[in-house]
Amino acid sequence: MLIPPERGNRSGGRVQDADGVPVGDCIGTSCENGRMQQRQEIEAYWTGQASTFDAQPDHGLSDPGVRAAWIARLAEWLGDSPVRVADLGCGTGSLSVLLATAGHEVTGIDLSPAMVERARQKARDTGIDTRFEVGDASNPDLAPGAFHVVLARHVVWTLPDPLAALRRWTRLLESEGRLVLIEGRWFNPSGQSDGMMGGPWDGGVSEDELTSAVAPLFERVDRYPLSGDSALWGKDVTDERYAIVARGPLPKPMV
Ligand SMILES: C[S@@+](CC[C@H](N)C(=O)[O-])C[C@H]1O[C@@H](n2cnc3c(N)ncnc32)[C@H](O)[C@@H]1O
Repeated sequence: MLIPPERGNRSGGRVQDADGVPVGDCIGTSCENGRMQQRQEIEAYWTGQASTFDAQPDHGLSDPGVRAAWIARLAEWLGDSPVRVADLGCGTGSLSVLLATAGHEVTGIDLSPAMVERARQKARDTGIDTRFEVGDASNPDLAPGAFHVVLARHVVWTLPDPLAALRRWTRLLESEGRLVLIEGRWFNPSGQSDGMMGGPWDGGVSEDELTSAVAPLFERVDRYPLSGDSALWGKDVTDERYAIVARGPLPKPMV
């Protein structure tokens, strides 16, 4: 939660929240109102996408080949032992349900109630017990150190302040925990980035830039280029797609 104006503090000229996470240059009621309006617009956008979201092969995972490709990748990144996973910006819950089916204990959070309702329905249809809640992944209402894995697929590019979110996500992890980010840069047919959200990584973020953002927070970062793995997407893709797996959150990040 952003601290109210009267509790704001500055360090090195940067406004910080109560956890010491830089939250931007602006503080006060008008800034908070602006952030709330932006959050509502982003939520409305994704709520509008919810009913058709699963039509994409990598979203709905209804194609057995695509599904198998994601099961194999997630096992590679998370390992086989059951762990506690936070799926932030879980959407319709496709990855959450895959992971829960594999024995992991999953908590899914999404800003859009319509997405969360679809995720809950998917879990009911699959007969698995998974917790899905409406919430802001930028500042999740989850216990620090409670998760072995924080997973976010195609989410950081949508956030107004992704760097602050990454720092908060790191704090959700136990000492050996992993941050698994699946991201990309998507282009429209004219070769331009499709910006919709208004954040700094709108339309996607490059593997190099995201790695640079994550590396100071962890002991080790591994990169997995995914553009050439058409089984994951159900088609050949030409844009940049990748995963980053960061291990061992640093108690004192190097930023
Ligand atoms: C491209 S979808 C990805 C959904 C899911 N991770 C997947 O891979 O199928 C982005 C999701 O992030 C959610 N989202 C965007 N901003 C969010 C925020 N601040 N907090 C929680 N969820 C958010 C949207 O509602 C949407 O469901």
